[in-house]
Amino acid sequence: MTNFTKQLFGGSWTEKKLEILKKYLDAYNKALKKQPFKRVYIDAFAGTGYRQQRKRQYKIRGFFDELEQDESRQFLKGSAKLSLEASPSFHRYIFIESDKNKINELEKLRKEHPEKAKQIEIVRSDANESIQNYCNNEDWANTRAVLFLDPFATEVEWVTIEAIAKTRCIDVWILFPVMAVNRLLAKDPQKISYDCLNRILGTRDWFENFYKTRTLDDIFGKPVEIVHKACDFKRIGEFYKERLKTIFSGAAKKPKILYNSRGCPLFHFFFAAGNPKGAPIAIRIAEHLIRDI
Ligand SMILES: C[S@@+](CC[C@H](N)C(=O)[O-])C[C@H]1O[C@@H](n2cnc3c(N)ncnc32)[C@H](O)[C@@H]1O
Repeated sequence: MTNFTKQLFGGSWTEKKLEILKKYLDAYNKALKKQPFKRVYIDAFAGTGYRQQRKRQYKIRGFFDELEQDESRQFLKGSAKLSLEASPSFHRYIFIESDKNKINELEKLRKEHPEKAKQIEIVRSDANESIQNYCNNEDWANTRAVLFLDPFATEVEWVTIEAIAKTRCIDVWILFPVMAVNRLLAKDPQKISYDCLNRILGTRDWFENFYKTRTLDDIFGKPVEIVHKACDFKRIGEFYKERLKTIFSGAAKKPKILYNSRGCPLFHFFFAAGNPKGAPIAIRIAEHLIRDI
């Protein structure tokens, strides 16, 4: 694993996210094993297949036994590698990634899994473009899929979520960047990132949900209207979940809330099921994983 393209991210929240995904992939394949469908796994922000984690070690060194801190790197499996280990396995794997160096690393997964080499497709592209294109062109009468949307931040557009839901055949895990969205919802209405929020949330209704108007008297006793932010992380997450419910067959009641090392919610990990027939069982499995991991 020399010359490894750096893929340094995450902490224990990353582990939780990947454990939920891996267990869902196993359960999904098991549940659909006897069905006639071709099962596809799509990783829209695939990375390299691996991830590096900083690991702190303390060594005793020197005459006075001083402590030396050594930051070593640990290689752990990323979502693409984990998907290839799902049991039973998928019929097809689509790994989408925009970074050329990471694409080169993904290519190595074919060598690590020669038995699946022909089932793996590696696509260098923008995830939104590629997913919309795939959703509009797949043979959905004979195909079912699980899609993992694992961006760094606010890359996933609502039009992409709509294209996924429209297939009615895809179950999706979405890493929703609640902390980043909260930042875009600036306290000062003049500093709000309107375009970016419209793109992520797919509506302008967020404004009346997240901002309130108060009437105050100015120094001359004249009433003035003040717009102020009136939402927290929970409300932002609720809004997104309700949006998902309007276009999918169903969504898990609660997301898995993934916290950073300071205890602040970074992401809400949502699950939504596309197929009306499969949704109740899919949601039951997802809710169980969200609750227990
Ligand atoms: C959080 S990492 C994904 C990690 C991966 N799921 C794993 O578990 O190993 C996000 C990845 O998305 C890629 N990326 C960022 N923007 C993208 C875009 N618009 N389209 C496709 N890939 C993108 C980055 O290069 C990065 O590798």
